[in-house]
Amino acid sequence: MLKDKKIAVIGAGKLGEAILGGLFDAGAVRPANVIATAAHQERLNVLAERFGVETTLANAQAVSESDVVLLSTKPQTIPEVVDEIAEVLDPSKLVITAAASVSTGFIEERLGKPVPVLRAMPNTPSLIKVGMTGIAAGTHAGPEHVATTRAIFEAVGRVVAVDEKHMDAITGLSASGPAYLYIVIESLAEAGVKVGLPRDVATELAAQTCLGAGAMVIETGEHPARLKDTVTTPAGCTIDGILELEDGGLRVTLIKAVVKAAARAHELLEA
Ligand SMILES: NC(=O)c1ccc[n+]([C@@H]2O[C@H](COP(=O)([O-])OP(=O)(O)OC[C@H]3O[C@@H](n4cnc5c(N)ncnc54)[C@H](OP(=O)(O)O)[C@@H]3O)[C@@H](O)[C@H]2O)c1
Repeated sequence: MLKDKKIAVIGAGKLGEAILGGLFDAGAVRPANVIATAAHQERLNVLAERFGVETTLANAQAVSESDVVLLSTKPQTIPEVVDEIAEVLDPSKLVITAAASVSTGFIEERLGKPVPVLRAMPNTPSLIKVGMTGIAAGTHAGPEHVATTRAIFEAVGRVVAVDEKHMDAITGLSASGPAYLYIVIESLAEAGVKVGLPRDVATELAAQTCLGAGAMVIETGEHPARLKDTVTTPAGCTIDGILELEDGGLRVTLIKAVVKAAARAHELLEA
């Protein structure tokens, strides 16, 4: 799928590096087929050293040599980067934007020509290939462009393709979600310390338990409530713990957190 495509990573910072790492580890892309850009030569030296890829400070040059263009600069840099590369883009190339809050419509309008554009919202566990990415197609993108984008982000985790109207929701749930779960892990570890465990042991127990619970939902395909029921023995310990969670409003609090973060993602888009 990706092997015969040349990919330009425009703004290869943390996210760009994570994706390249995933693609090379998976053998999905050869370093000879990648060209990476950044704002500073020092950054390019790091990328060339780590991956052996071609690098340049000239975004337009990178795009002119490529079939797929991944925009991974900060959102505020996207307008100037799009203006810089517009001239060398044409409908045969695919643009994928990973910048938070930047819509496909914004890029299409700025380009002023029918170039296929997709939007992607990954999360930070992509760094260790357990990422979750939502992708959405713009007006001129077809199934083949969706498939190419899916293949790129599947190198660093799982992918769901959604209508673009859901991208704020994805930002509030899976992109912000690791932060919520770090708080859950931290709190469970604190609880472990309270009941007498050494902190490092408590943290490992909490983190691996979250990892296992997530994997159970994905791998069994069972409803989380059914999985919860299998842990909850009548008159056992777990039901006492669950009663405390319900009393503390954990469910409603998590729902409100996602709703707020999704609303904020929408505001950023309009800012
Ligand atoms: N990190 C994540 O998990 C994550 C998740 C979802 C979405 N995103 C999105 O991904 C984007 C990048 O995030 P990040 O965490 O990877 O940021 P980052 O590490 O700061 O990377 C941004 C890169 O853009 C480069 N850059 C700046 N101006 C440029 C220009 N004019 N032309 C070419 N390159 C330029 C920078 O180069 P220098 O290093 O040389 O300054 C830097 O390497 C953001 O829009 C963010 O919303 C990130």
